[in-house]
Amino acid sequence: MDNEEISVDQPRVFDARDFRKALGHFATGVTIVTTRGEDGAAIGMTANSFNSVSLDPPMVLWSLARSARSLPAFARASHWNVHVLACDQEALSNRFARAGEDKFAGLALDPCPSGMPLLPGCSARFQCRSAFQYEGGDHIIFVGEVIDYDRSAAPPLLYVTGQYAVAAHKCGPVAGAGADPDAAQTGPYSEDMLGYLLGRAHYQFMARFRPALAEMRLSDAEFFLLSLLSVRQPLGASEIAAHMAYTGVELTLDALQAACARGLLQVQAGGYSLTPAGNDAILHVLAAAKAVEADLGAGMGPVQATALRNLLKTLVSASDPGLPKLWP
Ligand SMILES: Cc1cc2nc3c(=O)[nH]c(=O)nc-3n(C[C@H](O)[C@H](O)[C@H](O)COP(=O)(O)O)c2cc1C
Repeated sequence: MDNEEISVDQPRVFDARDFRKALGHFATGVTIVTTRGEDGAAIGMTANSFNSVSLDPPMVLWSLARSARSLPAFARASHWNVHVLACDQEALSNRFARAGEDKFAGLALDPCPSGMPLLPGCSARFQCRSAFQYEGGDHIIFVGEVIDYDRSAAPPLLYVTGQYAVAAHKCGPVAGAGADPDAAQTGPYSEDMLGYLLGRAHYQFMARFRPALAEMRLSDAEFFLLSLLSVRQPLGASEIAAHMAYTGVELTLDALQAACARGLLQVQAGGYSLTPAGNDAILHVLAAAKAVEADLGAGMGPVQATALRNLLKTLVSASDPGLPKLWP
């Protein structure tokens, strides 16, 4: 950058795409703002320009592109509602970010004293009286006084660097991508090693429902086998082997026959399936695993639990050697 060309009064000429990218580094939530047109028609649009302004009086703001079709309705509206979306409302966000279509088709609305559309299932909602409008370049800034609000336990949907995201609270220091990788490492085996974190988390998690496995007299291999068949059955021996390959546990024909002899499995036309006893055994262990999950989830809170699932799915997908799909 050549300093002599910069004037404090004149911005330099920006590359529009790069400027947008830089703004996208500011992580936000995602909202849908709704109101009604003069004819009473429900109007709404997705906005991540929402922000808090004042606590006393309670005020919020958001900005709307001058080009938006909903601008005339918002400009005239006496009231509007801001919906802070929950992390499972990405489809709703996309629906309200598209111009033209009937955005409210098939949506149930909650009752609202101002008569403005109030969407259910959100992380938080702010019912506002439209207080001020300001010029904001190619946008109009709307400031509203919050008349009422509510919030739920649903973790919020986030938007950062042009993509939807879920929040994860920090758990100690996290090395940024630009950090010196050697600085944090004390040796080849360190606390931040992904393999260590995954392995330790896996074993600690399993340890908490091992009593249920012992009660049902199931080995780890039998646990994998029975849980697989509880989702998809009947399966042939080679299909079972393909599904279980990632565990590193080799399931021999002898082991399958032993499970049949114990009354856990039966052989039918299409392959192996669970007997009623096998079904009971796996349901008992899965219930214990679910209870451990619920207990740990309650300790972590819904925001962390949601972020953890999301990141583990990312890793499962990134490391997938091409296993057959278990769930559709
Ligand atoms: C995550 C996300 C955030 C958005 N934030 C805004 C915003 O703050 N202001 C805005 O004018 N448009 C924003 N948009 C784009 C509008 O939602 C989009 O232009 C929409 O079609 C406007 O609806 P309308 O033309 O029916 O008014 C955003 C879109 C997405 C996907």
